[in-house]
Amino acid sequence: MTGRFIVIEGPDGTGKTTQAKRLADALAGAGQRVIQVREPGGCPSAERIRVLLVEGEPGDLLNWTEALLMNAARHELVERVIRPALEAGQWVICDRYYHSTLAYQGGGLGLDQSKLEALIEMATGGLEPDLLLAFALTPEDALTRARERDDEEKRFEAREDSYHARVRHAYADVLNAAAERGETAEIDASGSVEDVAERVKRAVAKQFQDAF
Ligand code: TMP
Repeated sequence: MTGRFIVIEGPDGTGKTTQAKRLADALAGAGQRVIQVREPGGCPSAERIRVLLVEGEPGDLLNWTEALLMNAARHELVERVIRPALEAGQWVICDRYYHSTLAYQGGGLGLDQSKLEALIEMATGGLEPDLLLAFALTPEDALTRARERDDEEKRFEAREDSYHARVRHAYADVLNAAAERGETAEIDASGSVEDVAERVKRAVAKQFQDAF
């Protein structure tokens, strides 16, 4: 028995985390066995790695250290949580996946794409989502929402605007390429939480007729 692996991707401030929870609740309400995880993090070992990544100042880590730690956290999450859950027939909702590495460390930091792909292959063992929900919002709205967040996790938000612009462009390329390879639904992330939740539900129901 194999479960379903749904990934939510998109720049900071597009509401992914709120919608991941909404989707997990909706699926659970329809009687599905579902777990919700996030990257970097999602299990105790990966959450410890997350702290190194998201707290502190932009210059604290070398670029490849950042990419290696992201993928160390990913490996812990995939092998300890996601793969076993899928093998047990569960639905897995994951807030970000390797597309974020290609956008942030590839596009944002300019690290070599093919080396990153090799790293991702090591971290994931080639595990691909069954559905990728690509969240889209205007750059201004996304950055405003992200910077309004009141928490300790400022290392990424603190980077300069040109970095965020590079990430955004890379995201568009990465998500377009993903759409050519597998199942991707672009989600308009503007409007109310309710509106976006409804769009997400429709995309999931279209892909998996037995979802709700
Ligand atoms: P979050 O705020 O969505 O939980 O993610 C924390 C930050 O980590 C976010 O700014 C994006 C960044 N990130 C990467 O740079 N590369 C990755 O591979 C992942 C998963 C996240």
